[in-house]
This record gives sequence, C-alpha cells and structure tokens, in this order.
Amino acid sequence: MALKLNDHYLQKFIRPQEYTNIQPAITAAHKQLVTRSGAGNDYLGWVDLPENYDKEEFARIKIAADKIRKSCDVLIVIGIGGSYLGARAVIEFMNGQLYNQVNGDAPDIYYAGRDISAASMNELLRICEGKDVCINVISKSGTTTEPAVAFRVFRALLEDKYGKDGARERIFVTTDRARGTLKSFSDEAGYETFVVPDDVGGRYSVLTAVGLLPIAVADIDIDALMRGANDARLAFSDDNIENNDCYRYAAIRNILYRKGKVTEILVGYETYAQMFNEWWKQLYGESEGKDSKGIFPASVIFSTDLHSLGQFIQDGTKNQFETVISVESSEDHFTIPNDPNNIDGLNFLSGMELDAVKNKAMLGTLLAHEDGGVPNIVLELKDRSAYSLGYMIYFFELACAISGYVLGVNPFDQPGVEAYKKNMFALLGKPGYEDQKAALEARL
Ligand code: PA5
Repeated sequence: MALKLNDHYLQKFIRPQEYTNIQPAITAAHKQLVTRSGAGNDYLGWVDLPENYDKEEFARIKIAADKIRKSCDVLIVIGIGGSYLGARAVIEFMNGQLYNQVNGDAPDIYYAGRDISAASMNELLRICEGKDVCINVISKSGTTTEPAVAFRVFRALLEDKYGKDGARERIFVTTDRARGTLKSFSDEAGYETFVVPDDVGGRYSVLTAVGLLPIAVADIDIDALMRGANDARLAFSDDNIENNDCYRYAAIRNILYRKGKVTEILVGYETYAQMFNEWWKQLYGESEGKDSKGIFPASVIFSTDLHSLGQFIQDGTKNQFETVISVESSEDHFTIPNDPNNIDGLNFLSGMELDAVKNKAMLGTLLAHEDGGVPNIVLELKDRSAYSLGYMIYFFELACAISGYVLGVNPFDQPGVEAYKKNMFALLGKPGYEDQKAALEARL
C-alpha cells in the first residue's frame, strides 16, 4: 500500500453509524462504474488505462522524450487545464518547483497556452532566445483558443529558426486519434503525433501521452508511475469502505458535505506538491461542481500558508474540511545547525532533522484544527517515488468518480466551461455569434 487513509482526526466529526449509512450509496456508485452504467460512461477509459495502455505508443513516448532531451535546451509544453496540469504536477512533485534551476544538462520545461497574457507570451519568447527549442502541443479538441494561439506563435518561432524541415523534427503533437483539425494539420505537416484517447477526458489524462511525454522528458520513470497506478487499480476494487481507503475517502467527503462542509482544502507540507494541488483542484472542481452542487476544492501548502490562510482555517467560517497529504519517508535530509550564541533561542532544535520538525508542525496543526472544528482526513503517502505518485494519482481519480456518482452528478463532463468561451467569442466578433454579441454588449 503506497497510500493509506488515517481517519484519527475525524472521530469527533463522524460517528461510526454514518459510515454504515453511506455504504449503500458507495456500493451503488461502484456498480455504476464497473458496469459502465453511470453518467458519462463514454469517458471511463482511465479506469483500466494503467494496465491497458497502448504499449507501442508508450515505447514511442520514450524515444521521443530521448530525442527532445538530446536536441533542445528548452521544451515548451503548450496546453491548458487537463492538457498540462497533470504533467506539471508530476514533474514538480518528483523534481521540485525549481526543476529548471537544478536540472543540469536536461532541457528546461516551460508551459505556454495556459492563459491569455501578452506578459507570459513575451516572457517565454525571451526565455527561448538563443536556445534550442522543442514544443509539445497538447490539445484533445485542437481548437482551444489559448493553446492554439500559443502553437501559432511557437511554430512560427521554430520555422523561422530551423526552417520547415528542421521545425518538423522539433514539434510533437498530442491530440485526438483521428478527428480534429490539429490531427489532420499535423499529419499534413509530418509532425510526430500522440493520442489523447477518445474515452479519456482531459483531467483524467495524465497517464496518457498527454502527461507521459513531458514527464519522460523530465527523466521521471514512467514505467514506475504506471505500475503504481495499476497497483492502486487492483488495491481499490472492493466496494466495502472498511477495506477500501479510496472509497472511504469518497464516502467521508460526501458525509462531510451533507453536514455543510462545502469546502475541501488539500494540504501539502512540501512546496513540490503545489502543482499537484492544482491538478487535484481541476480534477475535483471540474468533475463535481455542477447542477448547483459540489465541494469547492481549495489548497494550501503548510507551513507557509499557516502564516496566511491558517488563521482562516483555525478561526474562520466553519464550512471546510482538510485532506492532508503526509509524505511518510524522504530521501532528503537536513540537520538544523547549532548556534553557539543561541540568539533565537532555538538550540533545543540543534541536531534535529528538518523533516522531524515538519512532522511535529503537522501533528500540532492537526490537533489545533481539530480543536477549531475542522475535520481532517490524513492520506499517508509512503514516499516521493514515481511509483507512489502513480498510486496516488489513481487513488484520486477513482475517488473522484465514486464521489461524483454519490453526489449525483456526471463526473466526466464540464458543460460550465463553455459559458465563458461563448461570451468571449461573441464579444470578439467571431462569425456566427452576431446575435449574442449585441445582447452581451447591451449588458456591459
Ligand atoms: O479537463 C478538461 O477536459 C479540460 O480542462 C481540458 O483539458 C481543457 O479545456 C483543454 O482542452 P483541449 O485539450 O481540448 O485543448
């Protein structure tokens, strides 16, 4: 078990009977998933993916990653939402937020097409000056505005620098298998392409080429990542929440939600987990926030955020619960030095491992937040390996699906995302949106 759920800090908030009461809903959700009879059942490709992934493509991903590692100083990953968050979450979880500063000869990895910002675009273009650049554009639809604009820009940069033939060797495209303009355009241009499977939605796609190509460029063991995910798939197949921590997590979330705990805060104690938090927020926010329902997913990194949002969590509105990821063992060691003058009065810590101090900070916080009326779920992650991370990714994906079904929503669609797009296109004067444009402008 690379990940275990510790419910010690929930005991004041959830009675044993409440677990019994929610079991039938969990069993029903489990049945919906395994019989593929629930809402959004066209998007369950992620369920068996850790075992049934395309092995030929997996081998091509490794070859492409090697080619990118040998031929560029900078890899620009172009994508938004589910098309980039998973890769970035894994790369930073495994290699740290400062990866680009400590990666030696390996390519730096930057992210484009995830916003609409001249400042970001100009910054990235400056970074590319004088460097050898490759790009991996990732878009299932191939038509999402933000990555499409970025792809125009970086494709032109490569073609100016290397010519069309040279650019072809540096452009890697991850998109729909057959449909879509990006696929046909790439085939015509001769770019190497990778597949976002039809039955895997963006936020569930980190273990497809969407995540795996950039992750492999960062020299992370993608075999171990998949092995971890597959072991989680096998471990969490029993619908009984007494035996299945993944389903127990889904159950706890719904029990707390029904008691008015409408905000879940994912807590990490390592800055390298910050982008993992962002991936998790997208997974849960886009999956559950619909039909005027859902738990709002928020996140913090402690201890830094104990000096900002910590005040609110301890003393503010009591509508929240925390899910703490505790990485149980670390290869990183640092011993606190002695100060002969003990200016700060902290010599009682001299010679202590920094991680041991962190552990006490975590325990102290758990108790304080329990006193403050905040239920805490603790997820104990064995270590920071690719295997354990793959295990945790699958844990959260599966729990999200089950939790969404218990909540009574389709966890695999995202109809709400279209609203801003329609308005933006209308306001920008896209052909076909003339009526909406006039109506919107009248409201401005
Ligand atoms: O999770 C999702 O489905 C979304 O976040 C998409 O990944 C995001 O909107 C990007 O879409 P596309 O890959 O089609 O460009």
